[in-house]
Amino acid sequence: MTSLSILLLSISFLFLPFASAARFTCTAKNPSTCQSLVGYAPVNATTLGAVRLLFQLRSFRSLLAANSLPLNTPQNYTVPASSTVRVRFPCYCSGGSGSSFGLPVYKVRPGDGLDAIARGVFAGLVTYEEIAKANNISDPNRIEVGQQIKIPLPCSCDMVGPDPVVHYAHVEVAGSSITGIATAFGTTEDTLMKLNGITDSKSLQAGQVLDVPLKACSSSISSTSLDRNLRVPNGSYVLTANNCIQCSCSSTTWQLNCGPTQGISSLVCPAAKCGDMYLGNTSSNSACDGTLCSYAGYTNSTSFTILTNLTTLSVCNNVASPVSQPKASSALRLRLGLSNWSNLLFLVHVSLLCFYW
Ligand SMILES: *[C@@H]1O[C@H](CO)[C@@H](O)[C@H](O)[C@H]1NC(C)=O
Ligand SMILES: *[C@@H]1O[C@H](CO)[C@@H](O)[C@H](O)[C@H]1NC(C)=O
Ligand SMILES: *[C@@H]1O[C@H](CO)[C@@H](O)[C@H](O)[C@H]1NC(C)=O
Ligand SMILES: *[C@@H]1O[C@H](CO)[C@@H](O)[C@H](O)[C@H]1NC(C)=O
Ligand SMILES: *[C@@H]1O[C@H](CO)[C@@H](O)[C@H](O)[C@H]1NC(C)=O
Ligand SMILES: *[C@@H]1O[C@H](CO)[C@@H](O)[C@H](O)[C@H]1NC(C)=O
Ligand SMILES: *[C@@H]1O[C@H](CO)[C@@H](O)[C@H](O)[C@H]1NC(C)=O
Ligand SMILES: *[C@@H]1O[C@H](CO)[C@@H](O)[C@H](O)[C@H]1NC(C)=O
Repeated sequence: MTSLSILLLSISFLFLPFASAARFTCTAKNPSTCQSLVGYAPVNATTLGAVRLLFQLRSFRSLLAANSLPLNTPQNYTVPASSTVRVRFPCYCSGGSGSSFGLPVYKVRPGDGLDAIARGVFAGLVTYEEIAKANNISDPNRIEVGQQIKIPLPCSCDMVGPDPVVHYAHVEVAGSSITGIATAFGTTEDTLMKLNGITDSKSLQAGQVLDVPLKACSSSISSTSLDRNLRVPNGSYVLTANNCIQCSCSSTTWQLNCGPTQGISSLVCPAAKCGDMYLGNTSSNSACDGTLCSYAGYTNSTSFTILTNLTTLSVCNNVASPVSQPKASSALRLRLGLSNWSNLLFLVHVSLLCFYW
C-alpha cells in the first residue's frame, strides 16, 4: 500500500509543469533518504513550539539543534514574523525529485484555502498546485474543514561536488540576488544556478524556492553505525545516538565536533570513552601533536554502544606548508580494544594523521 502510493506520487511529480515544480532535483539512487532542511519564515509571529507542531517534529531538540539554539530554550520562545527558522526533516528521493514524504500533515481549518495554506501557513515553501498533486485534489477550491492534507516540502539528497552537503530550501525574498544568496550561504553563484536550472541570474522572483547546498561537516563515522549518513551543516548541531551525543560543525575545520550532550542523564547514555579519555577530550603529545577522542557512530545490535575513534592530529599546520609534512600521514596504526565494562564495546582506532585545512 505504501509502495503503491509512493509510485503514484512519483508518477504525478513527473507530470508537474516546470513553472509550478519547486521540487528539487534528486537523482540519488532510488529510493533514498537523507536529512534535509527548509528555511521557514512565518508570515505572523509564532513560537518554536508552534513551529514544531506545524511541522510535526518528533523532537523539539532537533528544532533547537538545527537553529543552533541552546537546549534549554523554552517552547514559547518567540519567532518574529518573517524571521527564518530552520526545520530538519527526512527527505525522500523518488522519480527524480525529492520531497518530505507524507509529512507534515495539515488539518484544514475553517476559512482555509489551499493557496492560503501554501503561502500563508507554510510561508511559500510549497505551492497550492504541489499540495493538490500530492493529495490528489482535483479541485483546489474544494477542501473540507478537518481534511488531512499532506504538505510535500522540497528537498534533495544529491551530491554537489566532492564535499558533503545538506540541501536547504530557501524562499526568495523580494530584492535579493543570486550573488547575495551565494555569499550568505557559503556557496557559489554558479552552483546555485546549475542546481536550480537558472539561466539568467537576474530572473529571480520573490517567492521562488531555491535549492541551496549548505556545506556540511564530514566525519569518521563507521559504515556500520546507525547514523552513518550523519551530515551536519555549518552553523548548526545535531543530537545523535539516542540524543546522547551532540555534534556541531565547525566552519574552520569542517570536522564534526562531538561530545556528550549536556543535561542528558548519564544513566541512559553509555559512557563514550577512548581508553582513559572521554569523547571530545583532547590531549597534547608534543608541541605539534594532539590526540582527540572522536565520535565514530553507534550501534544497537546487541546493546546500545557508542563507538569512538582516537585520532592523533597535527596542530602545526598553520606554519608549515601542507606538502612539507609528509611522513606522518602515511603512518597508520590500528589498535582494537574490546571491553565489556558497562556492557559496552569500544572500538579504538589509533591513527596518525595530519589534517591540513
Ligand atoms: C514562557 O513560559 C514560561 C513558563 O513556562 C514563562 O515564565 C515565560 O514568561 C514565558 N515566556 C514568554 C515569552 O511567553
Ligand atoms: C496573520 O495574521 C493576520 C492578522 O491577525 C491574519 O489575518 C492572518 O490570517 C494570519 N496569517 C497566518 C498565515 O496565520
Ligand atoms: C485520485 O482522484 C481520482 C478522481 O477523483 C480517482 O479516480 C483516483 O482513484 C484518485 N487516486 C488516488 C491515488 O487516490
Ligand atoms: C558558516 O556559518 C556561519 C554562521 O552561520 C556563516 O557566517 C558562514 O558564512 C558560514 N560559512 C560557510 C563557508 O558556509
Ligand atoms: C577511525 O578514523 C579513521 C580515519 O581517521 C578511519 O579510517 C577509521 O575507519 C575510523 N574507525 C572507525 C571505527 O570509525
Ligand atoms: C573530558 O570530557 C569530559 C566529559 O565531557 C569533561 O567532563 C572533561 O572536562 C573533559 N576533560 C578535559 C581535560 O577536557
Ligand atoms: C536498542 O534496541 C532495543 C531492543 O531492540 C530497544 O528497546 C532500544 O530502545 C534500542 N536503543 C536505542 C538507543 O536505540
Ligand atoms: C567481562 O566479562 C567477564 C565474563 O562475563 C567478567 O568476568 C569480567 O569481570 C568482565 N570484565 C569487566 C571489566 O566487566
